[in-house]
Amino acid sequence: MFRINKSSDMLPAIQRGNPVNISVDGNPIEAYQGETVAAAMLAAGIRTFHNSHKHKQPRSLYCGMGICYECLVTINGVHAQRACVTMVEEGMRIETCKELEL
Ligand code: FES
Repeated sequence: MFRINKSSDMLPAIQRGNPVNISVDGNPIEAYQGETVAAAMLAAGIRTFHNSHKHKQPRSLYCGMGICYECLVTINGVHAQRACVTMVEEGMRIETCKELEL
């Protein structure tokens, strides 16, 4: 997945919010006001949000609307936050969870 950075005849003009500074696992990524954490992570090429507790399998975005809890990450030190329903905020520190503790 990637960001569409310019308009074309096929697409309406792209309007984004102001840029915000966030990091995932200590690495700064591009994000804009009005985006969810999941959208910013996917646009940055991050696919694994956490690994399942039982089988240690990578988990990522599934429902995209807060129902399935497959997109859990740690945000500003708070574990098990749903990336798909959390909007990015300036200075947000996101950590993918290699092994999720619930
Ligand atoms: S993707 Fe289902 S709760 Fe986030």
